[in-house]
Formats: sequence, structure tokens, C-alpha cells
Amino acid sequence: MKIDVILGLQWGDEGKGKIVDYLAEHYNLVCRFQGGPNAGHTIKFDEHKFVLHTIPSGIFRDNIINVIGNGVVIDPITLDKEIQTLSQAGKTFLDRLLVAKKAHLILPTHRYLDAASEAAKGKAKIGSTLKGIGPTYMDKTGRNGLRVGDIALDNFREKYEALKTKHMSLLNMYPDIDFNLEEEEEKWFKSLEVLKSIKQIDCGYYLNEQLKKGNKILAEGAQGSMLDIDFGTYPYVTSSNTITAGVCTGLGVAPQTIGEVIGIAKAYCTRVGSGPFPTELNDAVGEELRAKGQEFGATTGRPRRCGWIDLPQIRYAIMLNGVTQIVLTKADILNDFEEIMISDSYDVAGTKTRNIPYDMHEIAVTPSYRALPGWKQDLSECSNYESFPQALKSYVHEIEQELETPISMVSIGPKRKELIIKG
Ligand code: GDP
Ligand code: IMO
Ligand code: MG
Repeated sequence: MKIDVILGLQWGDEGKGKIVDYLAEHYNLVCRFQGGPNAGHTIKFDEHKFVLHTIPSGIFRDNIINVIGNGVVIDPITLDKEIQTLSQAGKTFLDRLLVAKKAHLILPTHRYLDAASEAAKGKAKIGSTLKGIGPTYMDKTGRNGLRVGDIALDNFREKYEALKTKHMSLLNMYPDIDFNLEEEEEKWFKSLEVLKSIKQIDCGYYLNEQLKKGNKILAEGAQGSMLDIDFGTYPYVTSSNTITAGVCTGLGVAPQTIGEVIGIAKAYCTRVGSGPFPTELNDAVGEELRAKGQEFGATTGRPRRCGWIDLPQIRYAIMLNGVTQIVLTKADILNDFEEIMISDSYDVAGTKTRNIPYDMHEIAVTPSYRALPGWKQDLSECSNYESFPQALKSYVHEIEQELETPISMVSIGPKRKELIIKG
């Protein structure tokens, strides 16, 4: 059996949660492989709306095992809150939730450091979600981190205090910020008890065994390809590998186990936080996209920056990820536009190119656009691909041609059912 992958092709918030929830019923396991509570994956079905940060988006499908993989960083407080919210909504899932012993823990002082380091950066700030992601991955690669499996060790408290002490001395480098460490620590240790109640696994062994048994696995990406630590718009990125390669290190599976790679792309583009965004619209059209698309962060509530679809950018993400099919989301948000622009190339220092320069912050890029006619039609009555307006079919066709990759589904609303299979 192979592991199929769902991940974002832009700067996050492409609608990954919705598509994972939709496709999950065809799998036995859904696994998060990187990121942490910086993610906010929205799922809507019937009259429910949930935003998941750490728990995989397969949790609403009965019988499916959900794994928080070793590449994920976990804040016990957020996880506890998520578990409570789902439990209060009457969802039973704890016997279907597993956590990797090797996943790293986000300490209160990681969040403290994140906030202090961002404050010190001033105008150059990354626009982090302030969930402690960067400092936690720094401790992981610096070989100082604490892992889920460590909680059971006799000297866990000692290890915790040693890391906290190190963080406190680092905090001396930064300006003072408001952070109630005592209160946060109390909550953290309380929530640790909830984390302890979740079954822990040796992720690599467990998932390879599942594959051997013939079980189907879906890996759920967080963030987006342009936020990848190596290939994104560095330094305005997150601290993990968000691309397909991250599945192998984040779950303990070999490259040849990867099957379909389903790339999720919005029919336009958004970004939350700082950093380059070549097709950004700082005008009324950008505002219209934000209002119609309800483009406000699912984790922080911040307004998302909006712009047209950027094909050089998506082409790059397809190359990095080995995307085999694309799901185009939020097509309905473009319903009222007379004209829709697509960027098909960039002008870099007077040269036309379809490639992304190594740095788009220091090197200016100017996107070239082509206008396509809008469909000026509500899509809620469309029940299959054939019933789509011709202009939308042309838009989809144009993107497929440019990207040389098939679009297998088009999402036309936030709910589970509002998805048209193109095939
Ligand atoms: P994720 O982080 O990639 O899972 O995406 P988010 O949940 O952060 O943001 C996507 C937002 O768009 C959520 O509010 C979804 O409910 C919503 N959404 C997803 N697909 C569609 C769609 O096709 N149309 C509309 N109108 N909303 C959608
Ligand atoms: P999902 O999974 C959109 C952005 C932040 C910031 C940068 C670094 O919902 O698509 P971090 O907290 O990771 O240090 O922030 O990355 N960012 C996201 N943007 N969607 C996300 O997740 C994001 N997770 C992080 O806004 O610019
Ligand atoms: Mg999101």
C-alpha cells in the first residue's frame, strides 16, 4: 500500500482541512506529519464548523485512525482545548487518536521566546502565529528538545526545568514583553495529563506495519509549499518542511511509499503574515476577495492578504512536491468578477521568466497577467462538472494547460458536499 498526500501549494489556508475531511472516508488512517498549532484547518458539514490545529482532519469520519506524527510539534494546552471542544460537540474519537513518541513538545517558554523574538524584529517580523513553532523546531535541530515519550521518564521534570532555564537566559537578549509564565506553566502541566492519556506510538514502526497489512494512509500537510523552511520565501516561512519530502521524515516512511500527491490551490491566492507576495492586490479588488472569501486567519483571526492566482509559484510547488493532481478551491469566491487575472510569468530585472528567483524579498519580481472572462454566475446549483458555466471550465482548462497537471476536483463552497469531481 502507498501513502497519499494532501498539501497546500500556496502560502497556506488553501482549504486542505475540507479536502482531507472529504477524502478521509477512503482511507484507514489520516496522519499529520509537520507543523503544529500554527495550522488552522476548517471543516464544515451539516451545521457544524470545527477548526483543527493539531488533531488530523480525518477525526470526523468513524473508524479512521488519526495520527499526530513525529514531525509535528505539540502544545499540550492547544491539544487539550481541541479535545474538549470536540468532546463537548458530542464527538467520540479518543480511541482513534494516536501520538508519536518522537513528536516534540512546545513549552510555554517556546511561546514566550516566539513573542519576544518577533517583538525584537520590529518591522522585519515574520508575522509568526506566536504559537512557539520556530523556537520549538530550533530546540529540535539544536538537540535540546523534549519529546512526547520523555513525559514518562523519571527525570522529565528535571529536563523541563533545564530547558526552561536555558530559555530564560535567552529571553534576557530580548525586550520585555507581557507574558504570564506562571499561569501558562500551570495550564501546561494540567494539559500534559490529557496528552498522557492518548495512546503513544513508535510512528515509523507503526505506520510501516499498517502499510504491510494493506491499510491506506492519507498524510495531511499543514501550511503551504511557499512556507517551507528550505524552498519557501525565506526567511518569511515556517520552521518545518511542508512539502512531500516532509512526509518521509515526519512519519518515518520511505520515499517509495508515497503514492498520489494531491496539491490544494485556491482559485486566487492569499497569504497571512509578512513576506513576498508578487500577485498581491492592495486595492479594492484585493478587498473584495478578502470580504467575499472571508479571508481572516483560522488560527489568529488576522486579515489575509489577497491577490490573483500565481502560476509560476504553483508550477514551482508542483515540481517540489511531485503533485499528481490538483484540487482547486474557493472557485465560488470569483463568481461576481467581470474579469479574472492569471499571472503566467514574471519579469525579473527585465527578463521574462517562468521560474522563481531564489529570493523574492531582495529581488523585485513583476508578474505578467492574462485576463480571462469571469462566469458571473452563482455555482450553488451546479451538481457536476458538466453543469459548470463555460467560462469556469475555460479557467480550469487554462490552469491545467499552464501547469501540465490535471485538476481532479473543484470546490465551490466550504461544506463537505460543495465539491465537484472533475475526474
Ligand atoms: P486550511 O488551513 O488549508 O485547511 O484552510 P483554512 O481552513 O485555514 O481556510 C480555508 C477557508 O475557506 C475555511 O474557512 C473553509 O471553510 C473555507 N473553504 C474551503 N473551501 C471552500 C470553497 O470552495 N469555497 C468557500 N467559499 N469556502 C471554502
Ligand atoms: P494552515 O495549515 C497560513 C505563517 C504565519 C507566518 C509564517 C510563520 O492553516 O494552512 P509560524 O507561526 O509558523 O512561525 O509563522 O507562517 N503560517 C501560516 N499561514 N496558514 C497556516 O497554516 C500557517 N502557519 C503558519 O502567518 O507568516
Ligand atoms: Mg488554515
